[in-house]
Formats: sequence, C-alpha cells, structure tokens
Amino acid sequence: MTHSARVAHGLVWVRLDAPAGDEEDAIPAFTPEEDTRLRKLNCGPYDVETSAPRLVENFLDMSHFGFVHEGWLGARDMTAIDDYRVEATPHGLLATGCKAWQPQSTINSTAPAQVEYTYEVTAPYTAVLTKIPEAESVGIDDYRESIALYICPIDAERSRVWFRLATADFERDDAALRAFQDTIFLQDKPVLESQRPKCLPLDLRAELHTVADKASSLYRRHLRMRGITFGVC
Ligand SMILES: [Fe+2]
Repeated sequence: MTHSARVAHGLVWVRLDAPAGDEEDAIPAFTPEEDTRLRKLNCGPYDVETSAPRLVENFLDMSHFGFVHEGWLGARDMTAIDDYRVEATPHGLLATGCKAWQPQSTINSTAPAQVEYTYEVTAPYTAVLTKIPEAESVGIDDYRESIALYICPIDAERSRVWFRLATADFERDDAALRAFQDTIFLQDKPVLESQRPKCLPLDLRAELHTVADKASSLYRRHLRMRGITFGVC
C-alpha cells in the first residue's frame, strides 16, 4: 500500500492511496492557522452516530440556531435567515454575507450581537467557518474566530469529530474555550443522531429545501459531482 502521513492543524493526516494523476496531495486549507494574531486550539474528539456529510451540512446550517442553540447562537423569535451568497470553489463552496443574531455568540460575548459568518467547504468532509461579531459585543479589538470541522469517518454512519479553533482570545484557559465548544456541539449531537436517513441524500428531491438551504444544496451537488459515495445515499 502507498500511503503518506503528515501532521497539520494539530492532527495526524493519513492518505491511504497515492494521488491519482494530477490530483494534489494537500491537507484541506485552514488559512487562519498561519495567522499569529489568532490562538489555535483543538476541541474534541466527539463521537457521533451519523455520517460525515450530515455533520458538514449541519455545520453549514444557520436555520437551526434559534431552535437547537436557543439562548446561545440564536433565539426562537429571530429565526429568519437573510439572503447570503454562495459559490462553488475547486474544493467545495464558499458562502459569504451570512448573518445571524446571537445572544451568546462566543465565550467572550457580553451582549447579544449581529454576527457575520463565512462558510467554506474545503474537502468533502471538512469545512471552516469564520464569525465576526459586532465589535462592542465582545470587548476585544478586531475580535473574530474561525472554526474548522474535521471528521474522521468510523464507518459510513458513525463519525469522529474534531474542531480546530482559531481565536483572538489569548486570555482564557484551554479548558474554558473547550467547555464552550462542548456546550454548543453537545446541543447539536442528539439532533444529528436523530436525522434519518443517517446518510446524506444527494437527490435534492429527497428532502425539502428552502432558499436558506442553498449552501446545503450546493454541498450536495458538489458531493455528487465529485463522485463521493461514502456516507451519502
Ligand atoms: Fe449547531
């Protein structure tokens, strides 16, 4: 077997087969890694009884904030999603201009805030979000944070998840930052595990989609175009 292993983003990445043809042998991009103004920290792992694509799709979704993360990332009476832009990229997609009103956007939040999100799918089972809350809501100059989602599939319907956090907060200890991420993700976990089918249907007619889901719809189309067959149906 031809395989290679590399360490990046605090994780060990193993490629089981050699790249085919001109396919690049690159770790999925996480550009905040190189930004010395951001502190990096891994959170997890979390074992989740669902497929990797369901996890990516949940990560891209803002419409659940007010229901699943009520009082933290959203509120029941503020669940409308403003329009945003989404475009295909060579590695997945880029969604920009995404906005959410959040009572407790980050561990540093001192007030509810409008938060601007950017989402990027950087590989079939990898995504990155960047969130920038209104400045006065966090009390740290130029505050922003990026979170990468990395998924190691255990099998087609079971996954191990890590988050790579890049934050402008250099004050709090690791345990406090991890505890916040644990709180948020452990709200997602039972919802993720209740979704059926556990695989992600790539036929867009299989589940109901709205305008707010256009990032999700493009993700499904991207997986189909790339010929991904693992974790999908
Ligand atoms: Fe969530």
